[in-house]
Amino acid sequence: MRAAVLHTHGQPPSHGDHPDPVAGEGRSIVQVTAAPIVPLDLLCASGTSYFGPPAVPYVPGVQGVGVVKESSALAPGTRVFFSTSAGMTAGDGSLAEWAAVPDEDLVVIDVPVLDAAVAAIGLSGVAAWMMLTWRARMQAGERVLVLGGGGAVGQVAIGAAKVLGASQVVAAARSEASRKRALESGADEVVELGGDVDELTARFGDPTYDVVIDSVFGAAATAATRVLAPGGRLVNLGGSAADEAVFSSAVLRSKMLSVLGYTNNALTPEQRAGALTAVLQHAASGEIGVAHETVPLAGIGDAWQRQAAGETNGRLVVTFS
Ligand SMILES: NC(=O)c1ccc[n+]([C@@H]2O[C@H](COP(=O)([O-])OP(=O)(O)OC[C@H]3O[C@@H](n4cnc5c(N)ncnc54)[C@H](OP(=O)(O)O)[C@@H]3O)[C@@H](O)[C@H]2O)c1
Repeated sequence: MRAAVLHTHGQPPSHGDHPDPVAGEGRSIVQVTAAPIVPLDLLCASGTSYFGPPAVPYVPGVQGVGVVKESSALAPGTRVFFSTSAGMTAGDGSLAEWAAVPDEDLVVIDVPVLDAAVAAIGLSGVAAWMMLTWRARMQAGERVLVLGGGGAVGQVAIGAAKVLGASQVVAAARSEASRKRALESGADEVVELGGDVDELTARFGDPTYDVVIDSVFGAAATAATRVLAPGGRLVNLGGSAADEAVFSSAVLRSKMLSVLGYTNNALTPEQRAGALTAVLQHAASGEIGVAHETVPLAGIGDAWQRQAAGETNGRLVVTFS
């Protein structure tokens, strides 16, 4: 099959031939139609993730969209989203014409959302939805701050917070293009990320946020705790800016705040399927979406480098035709 094949940690994959996947017990074969390039793909391929360096060569790609070709769980022709553990455990991922997927990692898609749009939302959408509903237990009428509002998680978090009845959603993002994406996702206000903790605190405004969705960490997370209301919850799932942040005991205890971590890896297959289905239903009605650009498999090297350099305007999605 044609695939993106990673030969050297830290280098982009190249477009080439790779052995076809084998179905086996409890695994289905999916013909891939669209697969995004996400930060986790690059992190795993770098060989520096906490999962350890993956054996090479392998096909990266932790998620995709396609059609079931061979399965004992679903009828051939069923349209599915799927996740893989490529780069985290041995085996190939989604950036190939075909993928072998554990049956429990298949989610049937029955909403009218294009494959590339589903791929762009993918596990980032799952994370945003679960951070709000499961981890933060967001309630209608609450005020939400989204740090990293122009990323895929951020865009879905903005749309999802609105759908869940937030009274106001403020998004913070570092680039102008990112702030534009946040506004297009439905943010009521956008602010610039940058500067020190005091500047960020002033920019975030009234200390009346109930929930913070954070993929950035560092100074932005420190400032965000200062603008949380009593009982507020900050949920972190990534460290785009920094892996560490400083929190004041006085700030945390005086307002009984909660600082919570989140990972999709803690979800059951049922939770993952439920979250994706909910997000896609709102995507079908235009309330949630992720800006994206499609690229052909043959352009994988260039696309990978653009993702690494932060030179994208939205999610890059590899499409197969
Ligand atoms: N724990 C989990 O289960 C889980 C699940 C999904 C994602 N994540 C993590 O969450 C993070 C966001 O994921 P995503 O899918 O939204 O990624 P994405 O679509 O690639 O977006 C990343 C965003 O991070 C921003 N960013 C990068 N470096 C930054 C910095 N130094 N300061 C401020 N902002 C910065 C970028 O802003 P610009 O647009 O301005 O460049 C971009 O909007 C990643 O770290 C990802 O690994 C974790």
